[in-house]
Amino acid sequence: MIYLKTDEEIELLRENNILVSQTLAEVGKHIRPGVSTKDLDQVAEEFIRDHGAVPAFLGYEGYPASLCISVNEQVVHGIPSPKCILKEGDIVSVDCGTFMKGFVGDSAYTFAVGEVTAEARQLMDVTKEALHKGTAQAKAGNRVGDVSAAVQEYAESFGYGVVRELEGHGLGRKMHEDPGVPNYGARGRGPLLREGMVICIEPMITMGTKAVVFERDGWTVRTRDRKPAAHYEFAVAIRKNGPDVLTDFGIIENALKN
Ligand code: MF3
Ligand code: CO
Repeated sequence: MIYLKTDEEIELLRENNILVSQTLAEVGKHIRPGVSTKDLDQVAEEFIRDHGAVPAFLGYEGYPASLCISVNEQVVHGIPSPKCILKEGDIVSVDCGTFMKGFVGDSAYTFAVGEVTAEARQLMDVTKEALHKGTAQAKAGNRVGDVSAAVQEYAESFGYGVVRELEGHGLGRKMHEDPGVPNYGARGRGPLLREGMVICIEPMITMGTKAVVFERDGWTVRTRDRKPAAHYEFAVAIRKNGPDVLTDFGIIENALKN
C-alpha cells in the first residue's frame, strides 16, 4: 500500500529530514581519529532530543542505538560501540532517523576520517553521484525501475558493486513504507511514481564484490571481501515540478568546511 502525502505532510517530512541533516552535520563535526562510534551516537541522540524529536531507529525492531554507523567494510546497520574507535583514513557511513509531528526523517552520509586514499574518496564521490542520478529520475510518470537503473548504471560504470540485499523505501508516518526502491533494476519496470509519493533512495556501493555478509550481532552488514563500501540516502518527494529533495547535504558539507 503506497500512501500519497499532502503538501502539509510533505512539509512535516521535510522538517524531519532537515533535522536529520542537522544531526548528521553535528555528528560530522565530531568525526576524528580517536572518537568512538558510541560517542557519535550520544551526540546524535542528545541533538535529536534537544530539537523536540525522538531517534526513529532506537528500539526499531529492537535496534539498540540512535544511529547506524558503518566503518570501511561495513555497509550498513553497524551498531555504535565504545570499542569501535575511528582512525585516520577510515570511511564512516552514518545513517540517522528522527520521529516528530507524526512523521519520520531518514537520511545517510559517508564521512572521511582525516585524509583517505584516492580510491576511497572516489568510492564516496561516485556513490553520492549515483544518488543524484537516481534522484533525477524520481518524477511522476517514471517508474521505480528508472531510479534503480540510474543508480546501478552509474555505479557499475566505475566497476563498483551494487548491493542487492538491501534497498530504499517509501517514507511517511512509518520509516519503511511501500514501494521498495532497489539500487539495481530495469528502466520502465516497477511501481509507477506519482505526485505525493515520498521515497528514500539509498545506494549502498562497494569497491569490490557486491556480495555481503550479515554479521552475527543480528544487524551489521559487511562486504564479503572486506573491501570498503559507501552509503548515502536522500528522502525525496515526487512533486508536480519534479523531485523535491527533503534532505539537505549542504548543511552537512558546510559544517565540515568550518
Ligand atoms: N535507515 C535505515 C533504512 O534506511 C534503517 C535503519 S535500521 C534501524 O532502512 F533498525 F536501525 F532502524
Ligand atoms: Co532508509
